[in-house]
Amino acid sequence: MDLSNLTKICNLDDIKDNNSLGLSAKVNGILKKLIVVKSGKHTFVYVNSCPHIGAPLDLRPGQFFSHNKESIICSTHGALFQIRTGLCIFGPCKDKYLEAVPIRIEDNKVFYVHN
Ligand code: FES
Repeated sequence: MDLSNLTKICNLDDIKDNNSLGLSAKVNGILKKLIVVKSGKHTFVYVNSCPHIGAPLDLRPGQFFSHNKESIICSTHGALFQIRTGLCIFGPCKDKYLEAVPIRIEDNKVFYVHN
């Protein structure tokens, strides 16, 4: 297995099922705040910066899910984002996207895939 273009973000077990985690990791050599979301059998990673004004989404650290756990929510002004795509479906940045981070899961670990 060639791991030369992979950087470990976290262990898959660091996130409970249907839950989320906030952490920092280098993306393209720049340290960024990230959101890691586990939804069903899928894991998604986004940059923790709201497309509205660039604020981190979690006023309470690590809290990224809406009440019904069907969306990612920005705590600042309440924008809702689809978990699978990062598309804003409600709020001041409707139709904009969270920045998705390309990942690969290997050996129960989540890796950022860089070029
Ligand atoms: S900063 Fe996220 S909705 Fe305004």
